[in-house]
Amino acid sequence: MTQRILVARAIFPDTLARLQTHFEVESNAGDTVFTQAQLIERLQGKDGAFISGSERIDTELLDACPTLRAVCNMAVGYNNIDLPACTARGVLASNTPDVLTETTADFGFALMMAAARRISESEHALRRGEWTKWSYDMFCGSDVHGATLGILGMGRIGQAIARRGALGFGMKVIYHNRSRLAPAQEAPLGARYVDKATLLCEADHLVLVLPYSPAAHHAIGAAELAQMKPGATLTNIARGGIVDDAALAVALRDRVISAAGLDVFEGEPALNPALLTLPNVVLTPHIASATTATRRAMAELAADNLIAALTGATPPTPLNPEVLPLRHG
Ligand code: DGY
Repeated sequence: MTQRILVARAIFPDTLARLQTHFEVESNAGDTVFTQAQLIERLQGKDGAFISGSERIDTELLDACPTLRAVCNMAVGYNNIDLPACTARGVLASNTPDVLTETTADFGFALMMAAARRISESEHALRRGEWTKWSYDMFCGSDVHGATLGILGMGRIGQAIARRGALGFGMKVIYHNRSRLAPAQEAPLGARYVDKATLLCEADHLVLVLPYSPAAHHAIGAAELAQMKPGATLTNIARGGIVDDAALAVALRDRVISAAGLDVFEGEPALNPALLTLPNVVLTPHIASATTATRRAMAELAADNLIAALTGATPPTPLNPEVLPLRHG
């Protein structure tokens, strides 16, 4: 019998067509963001789901959708999926690592540079017609080259940002992570492992690339911002909720730090309104992985995972491969 899947959001037509050659597909051409109740309703009788980071796979949903055997995320972050709950029910979950690493690192670096060099702020002033003359201190920012780059979360994307900083911009790299890198990984970057307090007080530009978990909630709040250098910048391309956005807005207003670049927000797509009023923060709508080539690669990888998971093959990037022997064995 043909298996049934839900493609929960609009995706590239050719990826959708490929899925349609394997499955009976319910798609979402209108790209509605389903409520949890709508998502549960649409998943009734489905074997698999192709999801984005906007769909939440929790115990309530899993219990209400007992036919579900695979949930494949078109994102590397998977804090939208209750992984232990999936594993307990034999539901295969997958994400899309690696294919977005360099693209996301490019964007993180760009956002850091935009904050440091006041690119958005100066462009907005120009567009408002405020550029009437040269002046010696007009939009002076802080240097990126030769500065100290602090990275919180030194996984694949963190290391890719470190490479850009060390090899391209002569930056000194310090980092904090759950576990220290091997010496052979640190050496080419000249990367120095430090504790979090040292990271906060020594970094000129701090970039957050750690995964979201309850333990990482508000890892950067008022107390941490107060430990940073007054001229420092903060860039968050990780997840909303890692930074206390209300505390950050106050710190930016009071110049506790000089600037920030934010691609992710607590409660996104809603934003803390105070952020919108501040000139010294660059705001982008969660687009760090958004190049056409990378989004295509993410969509194809999520489809590969779903096809493999439901046809008895081994998915390329499973999050809980331990469920596979239970089904195939
Ligand atoms: C990811 O892949 O986790 C990104 O945040 C979504 O684009």
